[in-house]
Amino acid sequence: MTSNTKKLFIKTYGCQMNVYDSDRMTDALAEHGYETTAEMGEADLVLLNTCHIREKAAEKVYSELGRLKIMRDARREAGSDVMIGVAGCVAQAEGDEIMARAPVVDLVFGPQSYHKLPDLVARAANGRIVDTDFPEEDKFEHLPQARREKTIARGMTAFLTVQEGCDKFCSFCVVPYTRGSEVSRPVAQIMAEAQNLAEAGVREITLLGQNVNAYHGLDANGEPIGLGALLYRLAEIEGLERLRYTTSHPRDMDDALIDAHRDLPEVMPYLHLPVQSGSDRILKAMNRKHTRAEYLALIARIRAVRPDIAISGDFIVGFPGETDQDFEDTMQIVRETGYAAAFSFKYSSRPGTPGALMDDQVPEEVKMERLYRLQALITEQQAAFNQSCIGKTLPVLLDKPGRNEGQIGGRSPYLQAVHVDAPVSLIGQMRMVEITGLSKNSLQGRIVTESPEESANLDVSSEHNAHERSENV
Ligand code: SAH
Ligand code: SF4
Ligand code: F3S
Repeated sequence: MTSNTKKLFIKTYGCQMNVYDSDRMTDALAEHGYETTAEMGEADLVLLNTCHIREKAAEKVYSELGRLKIMRDARREAGSDVMIGVAGCVAQAEGDEIMARAPVVDLVFGPQSYHKLPDLVARAANGRIVDTDFPEEDKFEHLPQARREKTIARGMTAFLTVQEGCDKFCSFCVVPYTRGSEVSRPVAQIMAEAQNLAEAGVREITLLGQNVNAYHGLDANGEPIGLGALLYRLAEIEGLERLRYTTSHPRDMDDALIDAHRDLPEVMPYLHLPVQSGSDRILKAMNRKHTRAEYLALIARIRAVRPDIAISGDFIVGFPGETDQDFEDTMQIVRETGYAAAFSFKYSSRPGTPGALMDDQVPEEVKMERLYRLQALITEQQAAFNQSCIGKTLPVLLDKPGRNEGQIGGRSPYLQAVHVDAPVSLIGQMRMVEITGLSKNSLQGRIVTESPEESANLDVSSEHNAHERSENV
């Protein structure tokens, strides 16, 4: 370590894209002498990568800044200092408000400024800065790739942003304002990044986009290609065994993408396809641009080509004007779809969105009661799906130590967490695992093959219909 090495601490909130972005910021700053630390108290630069999706998410930032102020004051008294920056979607939405409410903040910058971060940090030493412009240039062109050792250290699964922003303007949602309009990265850029990841040992890539299946990046001939076509190309990369993508909008689920689920063994049988509500009236008020019947027909088309696919979703209860009947329609679409996992949220009124101006806001206690009932139904479906896996043999990518000694963990094709008794030397391997039981948040299993070659010869059973997603916001 050289004497001018500085320490960086990033705290990440929100969705997987923020996780990806935090790594990109880390990589950009690494080129300028910053190393990450797990101790906030010893950092020279603390960045909060924030989420604005619901009020609670946004408010977390201000309480963290309160704690940071105490830390910085103590550091200054002890003769050292720390620079504090706020990135992400709260920064984009409320840059000036952050500056006014939290004088401890030196630097506020939005998701489209990450390629300028080293320069912003240098300038912030001379005075507070807000940068929430949407620049013309392609930030991905300017963001460095991770160094090989860094990618290896991050493990065998990785995120890769292929599309950012959203033009859908659902009436409850801040994302079109915080991430800007839809932009797809060019195919060559994505292929190069995926190749680098695979060469460093990454076996599973999750393609990210706020509207990932609206992807329409340009290929070498300057022609736009869709997400389906992109998956066919990525599946060719040596060493990449698993491909996932999130989050999809029902309106953009085209035939080529559905065919990729049929044709490509690399594309995992898992699809996060939020519907938000089962009521046509509410879907219309949400500006989702499709009906409940269209959603159910789409699920049927996907299941026709990939019967074992695990479907997950997001739901909002208590959108303005939601009646008991509308909510019953949501319960009904859940019963008809049969989710392997799903995430449900109480509607949170967000400043600047059309929903915030709607009459008939639903009382808090009604939202609570509906959320409780919906979550009970989803939990029941998830448990049934997990239960249906007992006795099956599934390929599991073993990627981390387990909670107990002698145990390691990984993910099934359906994104379920699976634990097996095995030595840590098997971390990084794909193994066939017989599912023997369930514990609270994971499946228990037993390795039935000793080498990946043997695994490759085993036919994977495909009678499942649902499962669980790793994280949500
Ligand atoms: N890009 C994703 C949305 C990310 S937000 C997509 O298009 O699906 C993840 C989930 O948060 C959404 O699917 C929605 O269910 C929920 N959500 C978004 N805005 C919300 C709000 N104002 N109140 C409550 N939940 C919200
Ligand atoms: Fe938000 Fe998703 Fe709707 Fe876009 S499609 S506005 S990101 S919920
Ligand atoms: Fe949150 Fe922004 Fe992601 S609002 S969900 S961090 S896109």
